[in-house]
Amino acid sequence: LQHQALAAIAAAPTLEALDAERVALVGKQGSVSALLKTLGAMSPEQRQVEGPRINGLREAVTAAIAERKAALEQQALDARLASERIDLSLPAPERPRGSIHPVSQVMDELAEIFADLGFAVASGPEIEDDWHNFTALNIPETHPARAMHDTFYVEPTSTEREVVDRWASGPDIVLRTHTSPVQIRTMTSQKPPIRIIAPGRVYRSDSDATHTPMFHQIEGLVIDRGIHLGHLKWTLETFLKAFFEREDIVLRLRPSYFPFTEPSAEVDVGFTWTDGKRVIGGSGDVPGGGWMEVLGSGMVHRRVIAACGLDPDEWQGFAFGTGVDRLAMLKYGMDDLRAFFDGDLRWLRHYGFAS
Ligand code: PHE
Repeated sequence: LQHQALAAIAAAPTLEALDAERVALVGKQGSVSALLKTLGAMSPEQRQVEGPRINGLREAVTAAIAERKAALEQQALDARLASERIDLSLPAPERPRGSIHPVSQVMDELAEIFADLGFAVASGPEIEDDWHNFTALNIPETHPARAMHDTFYVEPTSTEREVVDRWASGPDIVLRTHTSPVQIRTMTSQKPPIRIIAPGRVYRSDSDATHTPMFHQIEGLVIDRGIHLGHLKWTLETFLKAFFEREDIVLRLRPSYFPFTEPSAEVDVGFTWTDGKRVIGGSGDVPGGGWMEVLGSGMVHRRVIAACGLDPDEWQGFAFGTGVDRLAMLKYGMDDLRAFFDGDLRWLRHYGFAS
């Protein structure tokens, strides 16, 4: 029996099989247990002989089971360690990655450039009221400049009306036609000195290769004591040099008109045609050169400062506004504004904005 039992134990392939062997041998009904029970019925002489034999058998079987059990457990552990091994040096599997859209990229670049000049980023609502978008900016209701803006008017529902009335000054609601209302929102909520830029979406009812009904502007506003046109020119020059990453940027300030600035200037940068491409930099007054309008700007109109509750004799400032999409086109050489909003990856890849 011993020989057979030890062979069966050594051959048990799994912990479950081994346990079945254990029950069959030393369990209550097991064959070794049955042998032990026969001792009781034996004569003392017989027991003296059989006792040590049967007990020895039981001990040998128990020891063999323990040994086999330890071996099987070790085997199971080895198998687990082998199968669960993680190689931390393996490169991670590739995942599709998104990329930064040129508009976002340019807004980030601008925020960074102006942060270095001490400008904070401000924002305002895209659904704006007539007062912030026009009236406070010295564009009264009858002003012809309103017609220039191709405004989208918004008709709030009666429930929206309740919400709108809590923040709107006046009944007319528009999609803001420029970022200039953020000038008003900043001047009415912060004490000067003020130095902010305000990037964001604006809306005009217009659509062709260079106009989309939604586009992006960035506004700049400085309000302090003793601010003059020289500060404006230096700021724009510094900003455009940093943005186009060239020291030889030449600016031309052309007298212009905006209701909210006086005097007003449109700002051009010089460019030259090089290898059939327009390259920003240098004076536009050279043969083959030209000027490209990039900004609207001016000294903040006294009436605008006063409309915001500030004393225009104490506080002066300058403001400027420009199209973010336009700046992106100029810097990265795109020619169709509409493509910015098509979400076509091939277009993004072509200009190096997606892989
Ligand atoms: N808001 C003007 C526009 O949209 C740009 C501008 C901003 C001009 C600030 C002057 C000062 O055309």
